[in-house]
Amino acid sequence: MKAVGLKLLRVDAREKVTGAAKFTEDIRLAGMLYAVAVRPKYPHALIKRIDVQPAYEVPGVVRVATASDVPGINAIGAFFPDQPVLAKDKVRHLGDAVALVAAETSEAARKGAARVIVEYEELPGIFSPLDAIKEGAILIHEDGKYGNRGNILEERNYSQGDVEKGFQQADVIIENVYEINYQEHAFLEPEGALAIPEEDGSLTIYGSIQCPYYVRKGVSDALKLPMNRVRIIQAAIGGGFGGKEDVPTEVCARAGLLALLTGRPVLKKRTREESMIMHTKRHPMIIRNKLGATKDGKIVACDVDIISDQGAYASVGTVVMKRAVIHACGAYEIPNTKIRSRLVYTNNILTGAFRGFGAPQVTAAMESQMDELARALNMDPVELRKKNAVHKGSVTATGQKLANCGDGLLKTIEKATDACNWKERRKEHALFNKRQEEINSPYRKGLGISSIMYGVALGKGALDAATSIVNISEDGSATGITGGTEMGQGARTVLSQILAEALGVPVDMVRVLPADTALTQNSGPSVASRVTPVCGEAMRLAALEARKGLINWALEKLKKEDPSIDYAETIIEGTHTYIAGFGSDGVQKAPKIEWSKACYEYFKSGGLMSGVGHVNIKCEDTPESKEQYYTYSFATHIIEVMVDIETGRTKPLNIWAANDVGRAINPMGVEGQIEGGTVQGMGYGLFEDLITKEGKILNPDFTNYIIPTTMDVPNIYPIIVEDLYPGGPYGAKGLGEPSLIPTPAA
Ligand code: MTE
Repeated sequence: MKAVGLKLLRVDAREKVTGAAKFTEDIRLAGMLYAVAVRPKYPHALIKRIDVQPAYEVPGVVRVATASDVPGINAIGAFFPDQPVLAKDKVRHLGDAVALVAAETSEAARKGAARVIVEYEELPGIFSPLDAIKEGAILIHEDGKYGNRGNILEERNYSQGDVEKGFQQADVIIENVYEINYQEHAFLEPEGALAIPEEDGSLTIYGSIQCPYYVRKGVSDALKLPMNRVRIIQAAIGGGFGGKEDVPTEVCARAGLLALLTGRPVLKKRTREESMIMHTKRHPMIIRNKLGATKDGKIVACDVDIISDQGAYASVGTVVMKRAVIHACGAYEIPNTKIRSRLVYTNNILTGAFRGFGAPQVTAAMESQMDELARALNMDPVELRKKNAVHKGSVTATGQKLANCGDGLLKTIEKATDACNWKERRKEHALFNKRQEEINSPYRKGLGISSIMYGVALGKGALDAATSIVNISEDGSATGITGGTEMGQGARTVLSQILAEALGVPVDMVRVLPADTALTQNSGPSVASRVTPVCGEAMRLAALEARKGLINWALEKLKKEDPSIDYAETIIEGTHTYIAGFGSDGVQKAPKIEWSKACYEYFKSGGLMSGVGHVNIKCEDTPESKEQYYTYSFATHIIEVMVDIETGRTKPLNIWAANDVGRAINPMGVEGQIEGGTVQGMGYGLFEDLITKEGKILNPDFTNYIIPTTMDVPNIYPIIVEDLYPGGPYGAKGLGEPSLIPTPAA
């Protein structure tokens, strides 16, 4: 391999660490205005009257917009358009926007927003999903409007085998209810968008955006512009983690509206507090899990019931719940399963996409159940997991026969347990704990383990297509264009490596551009850890297409020098790249042409050096098929902790994190993702606690919502397992989310 598998510094490392990278707020334009939203006083109320005039008395205020200014559909939502761009008759949570103020400075915009008078008629609010599903509960949206039944946005059921009979065969049954809280994304950069009105009536929007095509659709609908007149360009982005998946649509639509109304560029930038109040969070869940096994540790039945709080608008909650259902019974072969989920509207803050999409919550419940089961059976928790772990040819708990992935799960269990010396360490802990007890000390040590499988990319029923374009220049350098976004996970580096590998040139000869909706067709969202496997595969195909004519042209030339040459391929010698001739036995022959020279001559001959790569991955979508995802990534994380049993204070000491990633395109990036995911998961498991009361977040800041800092991070040992996936570029599959999912449970 020439580029894949190299431990490379990220291509955007220098611009990020020197501060040269331009985040949305760094882009300044002459005549730019600043926008601030007017937020409601109550989480649930009718809007009786809005008086915008007082805002215009603030010097610098240029324009105040309300719902009546929205030219198109005043409703956004990736799947259900239930969220108003600007609330018209009713507000449903404290993060709604009732009006927008554009002013010469952000201070003037804030002062103006404070002067807008809104008269409300307060309505009773619903702040618990359990109250929301009660008979006669007040409705948050009109019944049936978004497929909802009362306040239940979606109920999803799954079953296989006969769960009652399964429990009859069980010698041990463990049943518990787990209540799992919200998680805030805590990205470095709050949401932002800069909308620029162009002379031809179109809009260009730069933003902190994870899914530019969602944004383009939402803005186009809301502002009544054809899609080719809405150009979304990704600025440098300070993290997304799912929180910038659909949320930027509202930010961009609001900035875009003011830009059209004023004819001036408008920056809409949220403060940290606004961001925390307004953007979607990880879904809190109430999970009842009943698990049954025979006395030799074979799991025979699992029954899971999940209730989750969607907040006021649907966001991508139904997809989160789909994943929660598919992953609810863990990574185990279980013949009898029953899973029910209910996703419920309330007047609470919104919930939506977050790294792992519902899997971390159900995993926390399931893996806790596994440990209780191991204890009840007097079995080592590792042995229990190994005994039930899925492997190639297994049927999963939702009926899918695993074909496109092998034994990644068992390999991660083995590698993680070997690395931490599981058995010996447990013995040491037993001795340590005994000594502590004898001396009356409250400290104890312990090991936690959690194993997962995670469906890569969008899966059954979703359009999972992506397009990439590669242009080779006449000097031999090349540009890659893709719809997949860089959000800190290292996508541009990985895509550069795939592009370089497929072309057969060093990585420093290629450049991958930030996503821009004007340059590629809709390539789907950058979610579900799909950028590497899906956009990456499209990039590989585009590169092969771009160089096809060139390589054939070179082959003809080389054959003239040595007719025994069978094929041509690039070679790298020191700092030089050549196209060389090879015999059918794979042995290199003498003739070769310098790559850059070949590019120049082929270009001068009128050759085509551009390629389009397109993939459209499909699950078998027949009613009988149980295929949910084409492949799965696997992981096992083990955490050693010290616990003060009097205060409950838990300090992680060491984390061994084994992740099966298919091919590690950039092993250094993989390690970075494992470390970052593990820390974000550790925060969720140990400290992060979003406190809400009657729809209001009581700690919308990082003084009171505690996320891990470098001081909290223990030794993390990333372990890379490569169980190749034939459908991914060079065997790669998704990693970005599975690096987080097992950690909170462990
Ligand atoms: N890592 C960083 N540093 N910043 C991010 O925003 N997003 C995560 C994960 N890792 C994220 C991250 C999420 S939500 C996803 S879906 C994956 O990266 C996307 O990466 P991939 O599709 O390139 O694997």
